Amino acid sequence: MKFIIDDANVEAIKNLYEFFPVEGVTTNPSILAKAKKHPYEVLGEIREIIGADADLHVQVVSKKAEDMVREAKVICEKLGQNTYVKVPTTREGLKAMKALSKEGIKITATAIYTPMQAYLAGKAGADYAAPYVNRIDNLGANGVEAAKKIHDIFKNNGLKTEVLAASFKNSQQVLELCEYGIGAATIAPDVIEGLIKNASVTSAVEAFTSDFEGLCGKGKTMENC
Ligand code: E4P
Repeated sequence: MKFIIDDANVEAIKNLYEFFPVEGVTTNPSILAKAKKHPYEVLGEIREIIGADADLHVQVVSKKAEDMVREAKVICEKLGQNTYVKVPTTREGLKAMKALSKEGIKITATAIYTPMQAYLAGKAGADYAAPYVNRIDNLGANGVEAAKKIHDIFKNNGLKTEVLAASFKNSQQVLELCEYGIGAATIAPDVIEGLIKNASVTSAVEAFTSDFEGLCGKGKTMENC
């Protein structure tokens, strides 16, 4: 499962890229609004940090298919080859996906709340389909199960579309989808940090250090003891 950062804060992205095995960035219009910069300024900075080969997902804002297609082309022109255009999976969105896939533009079908939306997006040529795991949970349904079902629908129907699960709020949601082998998950920085935060691990590592320093002296390691 690919790990992607769901954020547009360049400092957070730099930091996560330094420490975590992450492979790209997703944004949406609300995430860009939080960055409080011109969208292409911040997206250019993100492209610079992650490099030309990494996946960058950028959403169209238009509502009509023809406008989405034009917007998608501008996004790709400005942000390079490995840019996935996020298209909301509406009726107009499906029309736009069919047109964009014919032109070889990479598509992430977004705003997915039901498996049927994902199936239609896959048939319309989307490369990724992004179910909103936590938002589905908040509707009283099961977001993890929906994402698994979408993964199975793609495999059982011979579609090349992969799940890019989105909208996570905790480690358990990520773990369950990781175990299931879905294609990718896009995760906000605080949830990524939470995947490795564990007081028992910290205390185990501190005990090793203190025992070794008791043997060899403060600040000593296997390099200089
Ligand atoms: C991804 O495609 C979505 O834009 C995003 O993950 C939604 O996350 P949220 O529910 O935390 O806003």
